[in-house]
Amino acid sequence: MKIAVLPGDGIGTEIVSEAVKVLNTLDLKFEMETALVGGAAYDAYGHPLPEATLKLAMDSDAVLFGAVGDWKYDTLDRPLRPEQAILGLRKNMGLFANFRPAICYEQLVGASSLKPELISGLDILIIRELTGDIYFGQPRGRRIATDGHFPGAEEAFDTMRYSKPEIERIAHVAFQAARKRKAAGTEGRVTSVDKANVLETFQFWKDVVTEVGKEYPDIALDHMYVDNAAMQLVKEPKRFDVVVTGNMFGDILSDEASMLTGSIGMLPSASLNTKNQGLYEPSHGSAPDIAGKGIANPLATILSAAMMLRFSLNQPEAAQRIEAAVQKVLALGLRTGDIWSEGTTKVGTREMGDAVVKALG
Ligand code: IPM
Ligand code: MN
Repeated sequence: MKIAVLPGDGIGTEIVSEAVKVLNTLDLKFEMETALVGGAAYDAYGHPLPEATLKLAMDSDAVLFGAVGDWKYDTLDRPLRPEQAILGLRKNMGLFANFRPAICYEQLVGASSLKPELISGLDILIIRELTGDIYFGQPRGRRIATDGHFPGAEEAFDTMRYSKPEIERIAHVAFQAARKRKAAGTEGRVTSVDKANVLETFQFWKDVVTEVGKEYPDIALDHMYVDNAAMQLVKEPKRFDVVVTGNMFGDILSDEASMLTGSIGMLPSASLNTKNQGLYEPSHGSAPDIAGKGIANPLATILSAAMMLRFSLNQPEAAQRIEAAVQKVLALGLRTGDIWSEGTTKVGTREMGDAVVKALG
């Protein structure tokens, strides 16, 4: 089992160290190799995704990723910005299926800005298509307008597009995930989010998802416009089970969903290709404001390592052990600053990692 460890920038190194520590506690043999990515790679090699880092990732069964980005790179040309590293990995590895669970941990209900009754027991899974849409559509660029409201003016443009097979494969991923979750007790529903009332691309999306849905009569399918979905997520989040949507809507809705739980520091994510090779990263970013202080929450990264064991390394038992250890640590009342509340014990990044290791015992 070969793992590429790419800590990246900001709090990335601190949180990934804790996940690596947890992995090394398991009685499993991993070959782990670390490489620079993002701003750290730009500083060392002049590129956010050096050839060697990409090769290491492509040759591994899984990538354990921290986070990339820092304000100090905001003035670089786009191809050199840290974010290009994650986009490049997604594109080159074909990581089209992004799983972003939003789970409300019972002990952390109070950390949400929503009323406890709205989010207690919340367990939704956002499945975001990750290699298509306006993120990667060509052509894109700048030019002088020849039509529109201001012919002759400078303009910029991107292309929103999806092919039928791209929609079909992500729809299958969503229906299969809903089926798996239903077997474990959820409702068995897929909500496909689109903007079919305005965009041709998303009328097509809706049509194709409907077609694929016919192969899953045991799973309920509904469709929702993205603006309404944004509203329903805060109004009645528990009405959702699996949400499937395109790259850009998924980017936005998954941030919204993660905040419902009040603890983005707890949420893992997985990005998979057709070979189940995957990239695993916390849902949060590089948090440069708290980098190096030893206070970041490593649990999202530790839980991402658990997802890696389950999805890419075929070690479901080890995954479950880690998840149980995290639950145990929360039950003991240990909290990093982001999830701390009156009556619990505040700990730092390392102490939290150590506590998980101990709970694995
Ligand atoms: C995410 C991030 C990325 C995205 C950025 C860093 C390119 O926001 O993973 O959600 O927009 O996909
Ligand atoms: Mn995002």
